[in-house]
Amino acid sequence: MASANPTLPLAFAQRHRHGVSQRPLFFFAKFRNGVSLSASASKRRVLAKAQKAVNEEVVESQSSELKNGTQRTPSSSKLVLVVGGSGGVGQLVVASLIQQSIKSRLILRNPEKATELFGEQDKEKLQVFKGDTRNQEDLDPSLFEDVTHVICCTGTTAFPSRRWDDDNTPERVDWVGVKNLVSALPSSVKRVVLVSSIGVTKFNELPWSIMNLFGVLKYKKMGEDFLRSSGLPFTIIRPGRLTDGPYTSYDLNTLLKATAGQRRAVLVGQGDKLVGEASRIVVAEACVQALDLEVTENQVYEVNSVEGEGPGNEAKKWQELFESALSS
Ligand SMILES: NC(=O)c1ccc[n+]([C@@H]2O[C@H](COP(=O)([O-])OP(=O)(O)OC[C@H]3O[C@@H](n4cnc5c(N)ncnc54)[C@H](OP(=O)(O)O)[C@@H]3O)[C@@H](O)[C@H]2O)c1
Repeated sequence: MASANPTLPLAFAQRHRHGVSQRPLFFFAKFRNGVSLSASASKRRVLAKAQKAVNEEVVESQSSELKNGTQRTPSSSKLVLVVGGSGGVGQLVVASLIQQSIKSRLILRNPEKATELFGEQDKEKLQVFKGDTRNQEDLDPSLFEDVTHVICCTGTTAFPSRRWDDDNTPERVDWVGVKNLVSALPSSVKRVVLVSSIGVTKFNELPWSIMNLFGVLKYKKMGEDFLRSSGLPFTIIRPGRLTDGPYTSYDLNTLLKATAGQRRAVLVGQGDKLVGEASRIVVAEACVQALDLEVTENQVYEVNSVEGEGPGNEAKKWQELFESALSS
């Protein structure tokens, strides 16, 4: 992809052409060596509880997949890179991938967050790398080795907050970070799913112009456009105002059960006409499902959710939803 994109910085194109790793890779020791990170006794108890709940969920999810005839490809065939996996949507994406036995790799500014959120996971299921998308040099090609699919759900607050510390603003995260990530991805990637926002095409119009006072919608649209012109197969998911979460590890593993039946009914649209709210659970599952569905390739969808039963993780139902959006 690198050489196909004329807007790429020269350094990226050269690095990809020669396949040279320019920076020693930080690989989270826990996952490579199976050595636990240090954690307090109480945290360990919480993690053990969380792990048990994840395991129960996996069994439950697998049996319901069997029932529904939507059993997934074995994890070995897919390695999903999740960027922003410590965030509200991101943590649910990772939880869903774990539940569905799909291997994932995370790029996190603070890798220790992975242990806090997901407990002790086998390195075959979950690998964690340290990286900040604002820094090109953090996105070493070796991070993307064997990656088949990508979900990017990075973001920061729309208005100034502590999360902007160290210049982590919408411009740097939603534009520069997304551009850096897309530029660094190998052309072999089968799908890049980017979480953006409803309203990005109308950031000059009320009420969107208020949300866009510091440029968040404009920069998200620039990130979208960069991905669209990258030549990589993409799906853009634009959620409405997010509800449900972010969750701590306590809630993460009970969340999918606890909230079943509430705000799980999904509305999918195109053309940036949908207005409303979206459960982070639904948005996360939309991202995971979009990875495999041919109908979602090179498409942009707005996603909302309302009270009622939803598609859960049934691929067939998601396919119908995405198809209905295309024809509406
Ligand atoms: N909130 C809403 O109502 C709303 C509506 C529509 C769309 N959205 C968008 O939907 C997406 C998900 O939202 P959310 O509320 O679930 O996200 P979130 O909780 O704010 O999580 C953002 C994620 O991005 C990561 N991140 C931030 N800056 C980074 C950087 N420089 N390098 C690497 N990672 C970085 C964060 O990591 P750290 O843990 O290191 O901070 C975190 O994992 C975002 O793009 C958001 O803008 C939100």
